[in-house]
Amino acid sequence: MSNAPPSPLSAGKSPALSGRVRVPGDKSISHRALLLGAIAIGRTSIGGLLEGEDVLNTAKAVEAMGCPVRKSGSTWEVLGRGVGGLAEPEGDIDYGNSGTGLRLMMGLVAGHDMRVRFVGDPSLSRRPMGRVLGPLTLMGLEVEEQGRQTLPLTVRGTCNLLPIAYRLPVASAQIKSAVLLAGLHAAGSTTVIEPEATRDHTERMLRHFGAVVSVGERDGARAITVDGDAELEGRRVNVPGDPSSAAFLVAAALIVPGSEVVIEGVLVNPTRTGFYVTLQQMGADVVFQNEREEGGEPVADIRVRHSRLRGVRVPPGRAPSMIDEYPVLACLAAYAEGETRMEGLAELTVKESDRLAATAAGLAANGVAAKVEGDTLIVEGQDAGRGAGKGVRGGGLVATHLDHRIAMAFLTLGLGAERPVGVDDAAVIATSFPEFRPLMEGLGAAFTLPEAR
Ligand code: S3P
Repeated sequence: MSNAPPSPLSAGKSPALSGRVRVPGDKSISHRALLLGAIAIGRTSIGGLLEGEDVLNTAKAVEAMGCPVRKSGSTWEVLGRGVGGLAEPEGDIDYGNSGTGLRLMMGLVAGHDMRVRFVGDPSLSRRPMGRVLGPLTLMGLEVEEQGRQTLPLTVRGTCNLLPIAYRLPVASAQIKSAVLLAGLHAAGSTTVIEPEATRDHTERMLRHFGAVVSVGERDGARAITVDGDAELEGRRVNVPGDPSSAAFLVAAALIVPGSEVVIEGVLVNPTRTGFYVTLQQMGADVVFQNEREEGGEPVADIRVRHSRLRGVRVPPGRAPSMIDEYPVLACLAAYAEGETRMEGLAELTVKESDRLAATAAGLAANGVAAKVEGDTLIVEGQDAGRGAGKGVRGGGLVATHLDHRIAMAFLTLGLGAERPVGVDDAAVIATSFPEFRPLMEGLGAAFTLPEAR
């Protein structure tokens, strides 16, 4: 958990944003590079690693399990111990705010004969862990606090892990990845069946490190199989820019009249681009330029120009490919003409905060009509038509509930609002995007301390 004291921040109406920038490395890929590096034999070097608190917690965790991690120039290096080669840590493993790091690490620990106690910050300590403990205990992991599903948790792995075939009960790349990572240590092959495709970075990176992974179909669903008793070799990984971080800059440029921004080198893996598909439907001028492949992942430069937007229906099937972008999409929808309906958002309630409730409350505090109906979020766009826009009132102070994406989404909302929009704690942004404030200010965003309003 960040030890920084809460640090309120406001965003106000800004002049046109412009510039060519890069966003930090993708959070999902950064965690996976460190974790696979730790169980590969030899050295893994990582370029573009996200230096956010979540990923640094994964770096600390692998170090505590016997894999030295160091930074040399702009490259991070992990000295891996091979599959099954991690060592029991001496103290608790503190995963701070990071659900991804924690759940994936539980998958690795499952395959080792060792005992690990995991702790986290108040946000992570409220989040459900039963979803990974379920399949991992089927494979042989033991949980000391029987029946407990939240941190703190003490688990004991085994070097006799059983392979399983597991159908995901919810669309979650974290559950899929935890099971696949455990499966590397099992005797035999482990299969995860996902009814809805989720981000596939684990599968891609496993192959890159030399694991045997096959992807097929079972009963109309995607089935991913990994061979056990795997041997991975240290590799070079280049982490592309995080599309979930880029989303805030894209939304900011769409909101502020006259803006034009290019974000270079962003990951555009189709399992992550639902936000961009939605923007096209809303009429946004956003294009992928210079599309290419880097390190096994599709990458592009994203050019965005301020646009008038119309409200749309976002179908539930799109949720896995934009799961982290709903708070910022909801803020953007406030500037559109007409209603935006975002359906199938049950998973948002178990993120770093209950994002469904936090987003609706933040919008309401800033004069935007928003309601939650079951797992649907409905936002009433404030642009009442050509020449008759009411605009977003702003003026509210938003509770971030230790949630980095809530903080960034509402600061983005403020950039076009009549009155500044404040967040109670911008320090949480360091979880995933420490450069958020200077990058946005470099484009022209007007941030102030709330007291100065
Ligand atoms: C992630 C998967 C998603 C996402 C999270 C990162 C990952 O979570 O929200 O930020 O790296 O696998 P779920 O697996 O819970 O959907």
